[in-house]
Amino acid sequence: MGRKRKGQEEQGEASSSAPTPKQQKATKAEKSSQPQSDANLHHGFEPYPPSKVYRLIEPGPVLLVTTGSLADATHNVMTIGFHMVMQHESPPLIGICLGPWDASFTALKKRRECVLAVPSVEMAPVVVDVGNCSADDDNDDNDGNDDNETEGTNKWQRFGLEAVPAAKVKAPLVGGSDVIANIECVVEDTKMVSKYSMWVLKPVKAWINPSKKPGEGGKMFHHRGDGTFVVDGEILDLKDRMVKCTDYLSP
Ligand SMILES: Cc1cc2nc3c(=O)[nH]c(=O)nc-3n(C[C@H](O)[C@H](O)[C@H](O)COP(=O)(O)O)c2cc1C
Repeated sequence: MGRKRKGQEEQGEASSSAPTPKQQKATKAEKSSQPQSDANLHHGFEPYPPSKVYRLIEPGPVLLVTTGSLADATHNVMTIGFHMVMQHESPPLIGICLGPWDASFTALKKRRECVLAVPSVEMAPVVVDVGNCSADDDNDDNDGNDDNETEGTNKWQRFGLEAVPAAKVKAPLVGGSDVIANIECVVEDTKMVSKYSMWVLKPVKAWINPSKKPGEGGKMFHHRGDGTFVVDGEILDLKDRMVKCTDYLSP
């Protein structure tokens, strides 16, 4: 009781009269804005570590990124899960997180272009293996050029990946009947690279495999952030509800 009275006095409340509706409202608002202990929250959710939320919202399909140049055999390939569409058009933009610990980072920094290949689920084991080794492991940049660029050609051979010339960039497309698409990109913006390893890319040419189109035979797979993956499943056609976002419906 004594503690309660003290609190009331601190808040300047009249000790002899009941709080006015205005005071009640203010107290309620103040309480709701204060952090609650987990035990006091009865919304049905359990706490989840913020450092693991990427596992809840891990974005689009796992991609392969090719860098370097097919012409001089410095082409490399790596796996990424962190990427996002940033802008549909004028120009289209894609953000990818590719860190300085990757050999591909040096190549992207040097050449400012790459290819994003979309592998189908048939390639999942190979794509994961590709993401679990580095061109730096081979350290085979023994071409005599002091270009500080690691050659990643071993990875292509080791995993049976086919490097195919691209149209607008020096990095190769990933060829083969299990590849859904290839997107040739140039680096548009590097402002977020030093802070977030986030490269903003502009697609300049794209290729789709006619027999593996998404939803028509081509199934992508998505990293759940813990070494497990989900595969594209059932398609929901809710086009008739897209009454405001009609831009999405254009062919
Ligand atoms: C499923 C999966 C997802 C990955 N996602 C990323 C990513 O988003 N960004 C990144 O920098 N590395 C990612 N990696 C790790 C790189 O693929 C890995 O560091 C690779 O060895 C880099 O190759 P490089 O050093 O030859 O460039 C991922 C690996 C796997 C298996």
